[in-house]
Order: sequence, then structure tokens, then C-alpha cells
Amino acid sequence: MDKKTVFSGIQASGSLHLGNFLGAIRNWVTMQNEFNNYFCVVDLHTITVPQDPGTLREKTREVAGLLFAAGIIEENSVVFVQSHVKAHSELAWILNCITPMGWLHRMTQFKEKSSKQKEEVSVGLFDYPVLQAADILLYDTHLVPVGEDQKQHVELCRDIAQRFNYLYGETFVLPDAFIPPVGGRVMGLSNPEKKMSKSEEKKEDSIFLLDTPDQIRKKLKKATTDSLKDIRFDENRPGVNNLLTVYQLLTEKNREEIESHFEGKNYKELKEELAETVIESLRPLQENYHELAGEEGYLDQMLSRGAEIAGEKAESKINQVWEQLGLR
Ligand code: TYM
Repeated sequence: MDKKTVFSGIQASGSLHLGNFLGAIRNWVTMQNEFNNYFCVVDLHTITVPQDPGTLREKTREVAGLLFAAGIIEENSVVFVQSHVKAHSELAWILNCITPMGWLHRMTQFKEKSSKQKEEVSVGLFDYPVLQAADILLYDTHLVPVGEDQKQHVELCRDIAQRFNYLYGETFVLPDAFIPPVGGRVMGLSNPEKKMSKSEEKKEDSIFLLDTPDQIRKKLKKATTDSLKDIRFDENRPGVNNLLTVYQLLTEKNREEIESHFEGKNYKELKEELAETVIESLRPLQENYHELAGEEGYLDQMLSRGAEIAGEKAESKINQVWEQLGLR
């Protein structure tokens, strides 16, 4: 039986964090045997807000390296950089021409990101979800494993695909988002009302995948909790709830077990135990990453192979699109 196709993307806008890992990457790794997979470092999405060229180049490689270090393997998955496959930009333009502006005005992520930037907001940032739709649709994707914040973008992608199919004939597979039941929204450590993010301004809010044990201990020590005492899962206590959820995701214990394990213990003990759990969970990934970084040429070789395989698939789809539109 033919395997279904998975596509997902990740930006190179900063350092990857525990939210990216638990909400997305970890699931990509565990799901990869069952599917044909494409994992893309979306550098064209990254430049929708200003980037330093040198840092972008460096972060693009770091993100790709971390995917392999986390356990993505070439036997099952194609890892590539978005700008290496030109069909992404080409299809984005075409989809721009059939996507009503009103659909993009509804995107909550645009509203959030643009409110922070005010006058400097680029057309690219507004158009971001259309490029994301192009990414997904080029590969006849069935499933898009993402964190909760990307759900609306995947739904929009489905709408765009449906509209194209209606206007020009069956062309695109309609994709579904896959969001993990737990871990789809890991919250910030200092502000647990907001999701953990790559943002450089709030470094203490995120545990980065390449943080040292001491950095992890320090950040968790300072994590916001509340003035209560008992350690329980409770959505009305976002700080403690988030720490416990991360603990749950990393230990794979169930909630009752975890609550009884922490019964009678205090927040300091919870934070210390969680810190050691995070450190041990990230250790193999960090070791793999540093080993891989030392293997000269490995990453370039993997990314050029990725661009070749993805490029072939994307090229055949864009040719079909041109035909349907009357551009060929
Ligand atoms: P990005 O780079 O912001 O995040 C990569 C993945 O990590 C998930 N994620 C989280 N999950 C749980 N808790 C969090 N705090 C958290 N923060 C991030 C994201 O949901 C995502 O799955 N627009 C996308 C990239 C993209 C893409 C695509 C994704 C471009 N094209 C096509 C899927 C398909 C983004 O900015 O992800």
C-alpha cells in the first residue's frame, strides 16, 4: 500500500525550543516510519521579518542539523531548505492570485505579529500563510503535523486548495493538520499565559534545545508559578500546569501518577526534578548535534540531496498547475 505524505515546516528565525520539540519535531520523528515525509526549513518565511544575513545562514543550518540530531532519518524523510526549491515561490504567486485578501485578514498570527511591528509590517508577513499553503500543496500532502498555533494556517491552506480545485479542476490534495493531544501549546516559563517562542527578547521564557544544563536549571528555577502549594494539573494555574505538562510529555507518565509523585513536595522540588528531566531528555539530541556538526560536509550533502528529491516532486506539481491555468 502506498504511504501517505506528511509535510511540515519550521522557521530559522531563532533558536529552537522545547515547544518546537514537543509540539512538532518529536512527533515528526515518531511518525516518520508510517509516511513519506518532507521536512522543510522555511527560510523564505523567516525573511518576512528583517533578518541579519549571516545569522539567517547560520540558523538555517542549525535548524536542519537539529532535525537530524532529533532522529529524522534519510531512509524515511526528506529534509530541505525552502529557498532551494524554487517552485515554492512560484506556486505562492499563483495562489496569491486566487486567495481573497479577507481570508488573510482573519489570520490571528498576522494580527499578533503585525501589532508588534506597526509601520514596518511587510506585504510578505501578510502573505505568509499563502506561501505556507504553497509549501504544503506542492507535495500532495495528506497530513501536516504542527503545534496548535498553526491550525488556522493549515485550515486556510485547505480552503485555498479547494478554491483552486473548483476554479481550475482537481489539482491539490486537501491536507489535514495533526496536532498532538498534549504538547500542542507549550507555554512560556516567565509568562505562562503566552506560548513559548523563539523570540530573542524573552530568552528566559524559553528552554532552547541547545541550552546548557546550567541554563536550563536557572530558567526553571525562575519559572513563574503561583501562591498556592499543591502540585496539580489545573488550567487555571497556568504556570504549574505548564511545568507539569512538560514533565508529563518527557516522562510519558500519566497525570495521576505525576500528581501522586509530587504530593507533599514543593515547587522548588518540582522545578529541580523537571530541570534534571529536561537535561536528560535533551542530552542525546545535543550529543548527536555536536557530533554531526563535526562531520564536515554531512549537512551540505543531506540538504542538497533533500533539495533534489523535493525539487523533483515540486517541479512536477508546478508543471501541472501551469497547464491547468493556461500558462503552458
Ligand atoms: P514555527 O517555526 O514557528 O514552529 C515550528 C513548529 O513548532 C510548533 N510550535 C509549538 N508547539 C507547541 N508549543 C509551542 N510553544 C510552539 N511554538 C511553535 C509550531 O506549531 C510548528 O509546528 N508557519 C510555520 C512554519 C511553516 C509550516 C509550513 C508548517 C511554514 N510552512 C508548512 C507546516 C506546514 C511556523 O512558523 O512554525
